Amino acid sequence: MILFKRAIDITNHLVNLKEKGGLIGFVPTMGALHRGHLSLLNESKKMNTYTVCSIFVNPTQFNDTTDFNNYPSSLEKDIDHLEKAGCDIVFLPSVSEIYPDGLLHTKKYELGYIETVLEGQYRPGHFQGVCQVVHRLLSIIQADQLYLGQKDYQQCMVIKKLIELEHIQSRINICPTLRETDGLAMSSRNIRLTEPYRKQALKIAETLYFLKTNLTPGDINTLKQTAIKNLTKAGFKVDYLDIARASDLNIIDQWDGHTKTLALVAASIDNVRLIDNMLL
Ligand code: PAJ
Repeated sequence: MILFKRAIDITNHLVNLKEKGGLIGFVPTMGALHRGHLSLLNESKKMNTYTVCSIFVNPTQFNDTTDFNNYPSSLEKDIDHLEKAGCDIVFLPSVSEIYPDGLLHTKKYELGYIETVLEGQYRPGHFQGVCQVVHRLLSIIQADQLYLGQKDYQQCMVIKKLIELEHIQSRINICPTLRETDGLAMSSRNIRLTEPYRKQALKIAETLYFLKTNLTPGDINTLKQTAIKNLTKAGFKVDYLDIARASDLNIIDQWDGHTKTLALVAASIDNVRLIDNMLL
């Protein structure tokens, strides 16, 4: 496994591999790796000659400085996990490698509706930051295939839009959400959950299963309200819990019995904000 810190060095190395016919798969991360991240890596390894993983806690996507400062970090362990998982190349850039013109001179992307709802409403500027970093990373790596997790469904849709807007050549692969045995979606933030909150946290997945089991055609507002009430009773501060069209994240109040829908939730417990979603 080769580690790179400078953009120019990894670009040169990858151009060389591509000239020899290598296919490059890319897994961008912010570190504090868990099995969910490694499942993306495994998918990439199946389909590409080389797999690149980046670890970079991107300051421009944090709308809350406390969240940025508290973001978990375990670099030595991460590198060990990546080596054992068979990652070929790791990119560990500094802020100045990603933003050579500084943080104040970042580009604005015309994302439209998709950045105004759900996460977009509660984390203003977040998806602009995601686009800035992913655009820069893809220009450095020039990946053939990009691997993202369904856990961040809205992020996947935003990155799809970015790829369209910027005519980027990478193909997106969306991988299923990996869960702990009790159902809690794996997340770097889970290590901040202490008992008894860790146990309570699985109420999020239970609520999504509840929605999946009970969704019937017609008005779905009562179902949504019951789910929100259940989470609030369990001690959560619910930012949103909504049911949306899977194709474009338009929020729906009525279900026709056919349209592919998705339930999405963001809720905090003991100041740890968790997000999850499920196709219904
Ligand atoms: P991060 O939260 O580290 O996640 C990196 C990738 O792992 C994302 O595509 C995310 O959806 C995926 N992932 C997280 N938890 C998962 C799980 N339980 N199962 C499967 N995949 C999972 O998402 C980011 O970083 C950043 O926004 C990034 C795209 C790297 C840009 O900074």
